[in-house]
Amino acid sequence: MKYIIAPSILSADFGNLQRDIEMINHSEADWFHVDVMDGVFVPNISFGFPVMAAVKKHATKPLDVHLMIVEPDKYIEDFAKAGADRITVHYEACTHLHRTIQLIKASGCKAGVALNPHTPVTLLQDVIEDLDLVLIMSVNPGFGGQAFIHNTYKKIHDLKALIRGVNEDLVVEVDGGVGLQNIAALASAGANAFVAGNAIFAAENPTKTIAEMKQQLVSNISI
Ligand code: DX5
Ligand code: ZN
Repeated sequence: MKYIIAPSILSADFGNLQRDIEMINHSEADWFHVDVMDGVFVPNISFGFPVMAAVKKHATKPLDVHLMIVEPDKYIEDFAKAGADRITVHYEACTHLHRTIQLIKASGCKAGVALNPHTPVTLLQDVIEDLDLVLIMSVNPGFGGQAFIHNTYKKIHDLKALIRGVNEDLVVEVDGGVGLQNIAALASAGANAFVAGNAIFAAENPTKTIAEMKQQLVSNISI
């Protein structure tokens, strides 16, 4: 499977958002990762529809929307209309997860579920066949620039075991503390989509850093 790099625009310079979007457009990155936070599910507020519409206007690559909000069902149609290609909701925020997944699919988007660091992968067993993507949080959601949680490797292995023979096309995405120092190891463990905020936007040359990440993944293929 192809490896996906998804820069998180949460770490972009919002005063120069169009410039940063163009940088991603012209880089080797594959998706835009769009983090929506409501100040309730997570202790931070990021942005909503107007900013997402601005991103969509300039982005030439798919929008991978990560909803860190309670009651996501209320807004799925709006996120689809605002240009989401993939919508990922949190397991911990959905009382009726099966219904939420069906709502995402009915909106025309690919459906993902995110797991907080404490949430075991096995809890997805009864919906795994319905999913296009599972996002394993490798930090506690809410902020960019946090330290990677090592137990993520075990969770990737658990998820690979869960999808074997059942849904092998599922995208295994890792989000939080991902960078040049761990991307190859994460790919070896079985991840195939990598969100990176700080590692890209705090780099001296973000375009080069994205290319180096891709290079690490190419080297991984040949192992
Ligand atoms: C955290 C967000 C992440 C964040 C990643 O809650 O879901 O997408 O932007 O940022 P880094 O790569 O800096 O950990
Ligand atoms: Zn995210």
